[in-house]
Amino acid sequence: MSRFLIFSLWLATCLIVYASDPSPLQDFCVADANSPVLVNGLVCKDPKLVKADDFLFRGLNLMGNTTNDVGSNVTAVNVAQLPGLNTLGISMVRIDFAPMGINAPHTHPRATEIFTVIEGRFLVGFVTSNLENRLISKVLEVGDVFVFPEGLIHFQQNIGHGNAVAIAALSSQNPGAITIANAVFGSNPDIPGDILAKAFQVDINLVNKIQSNF
Ligand SMILES: *[C@@H]1O[C@H](CO)[C@@H](O)[C@H](O)[C@H]1NC(C)=O
Ligand SMILES: *[C@@H]1O[C@H](CO)[C@@H](O)[C@H](O)[C@H]1NC(C)=O
Repeated sequence: MSRFLIFSLWLATCLIVYASDPSPLQDFCVADANSPVLVNGLVCKDPKLVKADDFLFRGLNLMGNTTNDVGSNVTAVNVAQLPGLNTLGISMVRIDFAPMGINAPHTHPRATEIFTVIEGRFLVGFVTSNLENRLISKVLEVGDVFVFPEGLIHFQQNIGHGNAVAIAALSSQNPGAITIANAVFGSNPDIPGDILAKAFQVDINLVNKIQSNF
């Protein structure tokens, strides 16, 4: 095996071990939203005070409002909405799409995503890391399930005639999302324009124009 391959395998192993939520050490650790203590995750509420409602979220039957620039809306059910998810390494979203709506290219720094089509027809894809930057893409119909591996840039587009709906599960209580366009061109403060001009191999005026859209 080449040294490079060994290094790649070592790196992959580290990512698997360290980039996902740690396993729970007890039955549950319902998040105490009021605790001032800062830990990796959220502090546990006193188990004696835990109620069934701490494990419940209602309303994923409701459509999100897709009247926006991208024509999609993510309704998240992570530890912020459902405190019982704290330490359990899992969460969920509902994503609504207007016709031709997109969920713009983005990545979840802490989660793999498994995406299920409830209504409509989608073009989805993800891009592998820099060794190849290969686009892996598929058209999905109702009932289809597609997986976006942890950390990779992915997108979805509604290519059906009406609205579309998907439910996705994510392997973190708090997967996070980095929308590429917003992070790169809409950071606060801006990434210096000459850096983006070189990175994207375009004129700095074009970079300034894109930055002004965010
Ligand atoms: C998503 O839908 C909710 C509920 O209709 C709405 O409050 C929210 O503003 C929408 N978000 C975006 C980004 O359009
Ligand atoms: C959806 O959002 C748009 C833009 O913010 C707003 O004009 C519209 O009233 C909202 N629709 C509903 C049903 O809330």
